[in-house]
Order: sequence, then C-alpha cells, then structure tokens
Amino acid sequence: MDPNRVAKPYYGNGNGEPRLLHVAVIPDGNGRWAAMRGLARTAGHEAGVAAVRRLVSAAPETGIGMLSLYVFSADNWERPQTEVASLLGLLESFFREEADRFRGAGIRLRVIGRRDRLPEGLRAAIAAIEKQTAAGRNLFLRLAIDYSAQDAILRAACRMISSLEISRREFARVLGLANHGDGPAPDVDLLIRTGGEQRLSDFLLWESAYAELVFSPKLWPDFERGDLEAALEEFRRRDRRFGRIPEAVAG
Ligand code: IPE
Ligand code: IPE
Ligand code: MG
Repeated sequence: MDPNRVAKPYYGNGNGEPRLLHVAVIPDGNGRWAAMRGLARTAGHEAGVAAVRRLVSAAPETGIGMLSLYVFSADNWERPQTEVASLLGLLESFFREEADRFRGAGIRLRVIGRRDRLPEGLRAAIAAIEKQTAAGRNLFLRLAIDYSAQDAILRAACRMISSLEISRREFARVLGLANHGDGPAPDVDLLIRTGGEQRLSDFLLWESAYAELVFSPKLWPDFERGDLEAALEEFRRRDRRFGRIPEAVAG
C-alpha cells in the first residue's frame, strides 16, 4: 500500500461531513471455488486468505476507514474437524506473517467474537498482533472469529440487565465491549457478501440496521480490487434516507 495515496472520503448524500466508511464483508464461496477446480476445500481457504490480503491493501485507498471481515462464524464449528483445524491454522499463520507489515502500513487489527473456545496458539497470535498494531491509523481492520451477532447481543443484554432505561447509544457501547471491540459497536455503511447467497448468516445484525447491502455472485477467492470499487460505486449511488424523506420533497 502506498501511504501517500489519499483516501476518498464519503460525503453522505451530498450534505454530510466527510468521513471514512465502515465496510463489512462476508467473504463466502471458498469451498465452491475449490470444488470447481477439483481441489480440497482447504485450498479454497488458502486462496481466500490471498483475497483478504488484496482487499486489505486496497481498502485505505478507497475511502474505507474500518473494514470488518467475517472469517469464522460460531456456527462454522459444525464443519468437519479437519476443515476447522485448517481454517484456524491459516488464521494463526496470517496473524504471525502480517504483524510487521500491518504495523508498517498503519493498519490496526482487532479480533471480534469469542476467544475462550480458540486454540491457545491462535489466542496468543491474536494478542500479539493486536498489541503490535494498536497505534495504526490508516485502517481499522476487524476480523470476526467465532463470531455470532445474536450471541454478542445476548451477552450485551445480560450485562445491561440491571439498567432500567437503556438508550440505543448506551447499548451500542456495551455491545462493543461484549464483542471484544474497541469503542461502541460501529454502524456499518456498506455490507458486501460474495458467493451469491443473499443472507447475513448472523453477522453484525445490530450494526447493519441501516447498512446498504451488496451481494456479489463472485466466489470470494475471485474477488478483486475492481469488484470492491464497483461495490463502493453502487453504494455511492444509493439514497440513504434513514427513515426520512428527501429534503426537496419535504419542502
Ligand atoms: C467462506 O467460504 C469461508 C468461511 C466460511 C470460513 P465457505 O467455506 O463457506 O465456502 P462455500 O460457501 O462452501 O463455497
Ligand atoms: C458465513 O458463511 C460465515 C463466513 C463467511 C465466515 P457460511 O458459508 O458459513 O454461511 P451459510 O452457511 O451459507 O449461511
Ligand atoms: Mg459458505
């Protein structure tokens, strides 16, 4: 990544303050990508990691300030043990390999989701890369591992049980804590899912209340920078009303 490239900020619908976007991605289709080539599913996940690297490199130059990637859902434990082990192993290697580069590129990495069920080595790699990259300011990259939005909302609700009046703002703060996040649970601007499925599969349900959804038929390992740019263009064409009506109509 060239740190001198200037990110394009998002100006809302022409009247907002410039700000960087929070883009969430459900990178789906690794298994099908491998099957089409007669390869093991693991090979699809390896190609998926390469696509993650491409996306992370492109993100800061395209106006993205926060990128949340769903890499292992709480329901993915139901897959065969060999696939689970290889996925978690790939993630551990990814953290160990990228720590120095991320720090150099100003990328701050944070993992959201449960940690108590992860293997010891992966937990250690997460702790190390989070610490090493904590000062990064060019991109806030969040990887969701053993993540379930319903579970996070439930845990946040349990923490709040003694409060009688709970504002959405206060709840978002507690949800952020329940997620292992840093700060309140951030609203998603754009959510992209590859692989052709049109569902959220328990990802960022609270945060995506007003997210624009873009579904791509491409399998994740085939997702290129141009596909990200096309999704962002589509996002910029959308009229986000948040329950209001356009000013011109309101008069
Ligand atoms: C997404 O690809 C990656 C993870 C869920 C970890 P899949 O493994 O779900 O690929 P498909 O959907 O079976 O093709
Ligand atoms: C969602 O994909 C989870 C990740 C991409 C990590 P899945 O492949 O697990 O979701 P479903 O089963 O199609 O809903
Ligand atoms: Mg899938």
